[in-house]
Amino acid sequence: MRRVNMLDLSEQYNIIRDEILETVDEVLSSSRYILGDNVKKLEADIAKYSNTTQGVGVGNGSDAIHIALQAAGVEAGDEVITVSFTFFATAGAIARANATPVFVDIDPVTFNMDPALIDAAITDKTKAIIPVHLYGQMADMKQIMEIANKYNLVVIEDAAQAIGAEYQEAKPGELGTAATYSFFPTKNLGAYGDGGMIVSSDEDLAEKSRVIRVHGSKPKYYHHVLGYNSRLDELQAAILNVKFKKLDDFSSMRRERANYYTEQLNKEVSDFVKTPVEKEGNYHVFHQYTLRVERRDELQAYLKEKGIDSMIYYPMPLHVQPVFADLGYKEGDLLITELAAKEVLSLPMYPELKENDQAYVIKTIKEFYLIN
Ligand SMILES: Cc1ncc(COP(=O)(O)O)c(C=O)c1O
Repeated sequence: MRRVNMLDLSEQYNIIRDEILETVDEVLSSSRYILGDNVKKLEADIAKYSNTTQGVGVGNGSDAIHIALQAAGVEAGDEVITVSFTFFATAGAIARANATPVFVDIDPVTFNMDPALIDAAITDKTKAIIPVHLYGQMADMKQIMEIANKYNLVVIEDAAQAIGAEYQEAKPGELGTAATYSFFPTKNLGAYGDGGMIVSSDEDLAEKSRVIRVHGSKPKYYHHVLGYNSRLDELQAAILNVKFKKLDDFSSMRRERANYYTEQLNKEVSDFVKTPVEKEGNYHVFHQYTLRVERRDELQAYLKEKGIDSMIYYPMPLHVQPVFADLGYKEGDLLITELAAKEVLSLPMYPELKENDQAYVIKTIKEFYLIN
């Protein structure tokens, strides 16, 4: 049977294999495996790319959020406002920093934090806001920063899915206090293992983050803060240095594929399928191409029967996750988030995705709504 995968990392590896193997061999031969020149180069390049001055490579995107919060002074008893419609790590990092996640609802069109709801969520314990740039589109950073500045709050942008995205020409980390990236293999800039980075123009936050990622040790073997072991591997940084040069091309390729889906799905089935909306002034990098659809679970089963992968990001919002039961939220508290969780469906998306595979996905979706 014909198959269309959500993504295919081996296609890209085959194209860049020689360069990757060469750089891997250089690192292995150098005997320098922790925090060497490759990490420094990637930190400098990604900080500059984000229009910030500091980059701090860490073990993964989840630790990047946790470390940034801790470095920004978030501590036990503080509240951090975020969204419930995101990957677990966003709120997991808040809880691991001993703070309390406070969830606000999302904009039904972009799936990102609705800035109009932040004000009502602020209390005298609020210390920070974490907007998530979901699926590769940045949240409304100007409105979020206006509120943050009014109440003197820290803003950590969770940009795990949005490296290369822009909001009115600003990159993640440029308007907020800091942004965090994930280099999980499936991300737009993916390593061959785990990795993450904090970018910021706040030198103090970056310096504290550098200390936290090495057990809070400064000078070596002297510990004034509680840190842990969370460093970006030299080997992964070397691989990422190769892939980073191609990131903008990969983003354009994702956008071309997204445009093709959108053009085709806006014909004939637009009553059943809502295609992603790129807000004016935004540069969406389509980490995911996510539809809002009718009869979502039936459509997903039909696609599966026809050999087509699709995914639900995310089926259970964080405010109703059992691990957060103590926070006291219940079903019905965040209606737009809860509806999104029932209606979203992400289609196969990666830079090398073939047009004939996309055409098959589109044809199958039309078949489902128009013939069934
Ligand atoms: C929105 C979001 N935040 C945080 C993370 C955590 O990143 P990592 O898997 O590198 O820990 C991810 C990805 O997994 C994510 O999608």
